[in-house]
Amino acid sequence: MNILVVYSSKTGNTKKIAEAIFDILPGNKEIYPVDKAPSPDKYDFIALGFWVNRGKPDQSAREFMEKIKGKNVGIFATIGAYPTSKHAREALYAARDILKENNILGEFICQGKINPKVLERMPRDKIHEMNSYRKQMIEEGKKHPNETDCLYAQAAFKDMIEELVLPG
Ligand SMILES: Cc1cc2nc3c(=O)[nH]c(=O)nc-3n(C[C@H](O)[C@H](O)[C@H](O)COP(=O)(O)O)c2cc1C
Repeated sequence: MNILVVYSSKTGNTKKIAEAIFDILPGNKEIYPVDKAPSPDKYDFIALGFWVNRGKPDQSAREFMEKIKGKNVGIFATIGAYPTSKHAREALYAARDILKENNILGEFICQGKINPKVLERMPRDKIHEMNSYRKQMIEEGKKHPNETDCLYAQAAFKDMIEELVLPG
């Protein structure tokens, strides 16, 4: 089985998850940042990682996702918001929608610390009210992705691969 891990990551959070996933994948495997990724054509399973930008998969990941057709795919992502939030669910739905011509085996999302420059701007913009919920979320985000996130990501992708190797 030929496996491709492709990730888009501006500040390293999604890269960390990508590398953790890559470590536990079996067989012939390759890992690339999205700007260096080869065509997905010759791979049997593609693990695709993005960071959430304005509620959606970031643009570079989106462009690569549009090239993937008829493949087994696992999705992973990092996000500033809580992974159990509606916001996170909607980002994953958006990814599933772009990848709808594929067999999606599963998904994983966790928090990723937000770039301090973006955090600085947030209280001044008109979108992000700095209430206690948001402040707490940002504080929690500063600790992620952590080792537990990496373990959960590995577990999710282990399940996907087993499903692929032992269908039914
Ligand atoms: C420009 C920008 C836009 C972002 N938009 C969102 C967003 O809409 N929702 C959210 O929960 N987090 C948002 N984030 C937080 C990132 O998704 C999060 O920090 C992610 O882990 C970054 O991943 P990376 O380190 O792989 O680049 C944004 C961050 C940046 C820099």
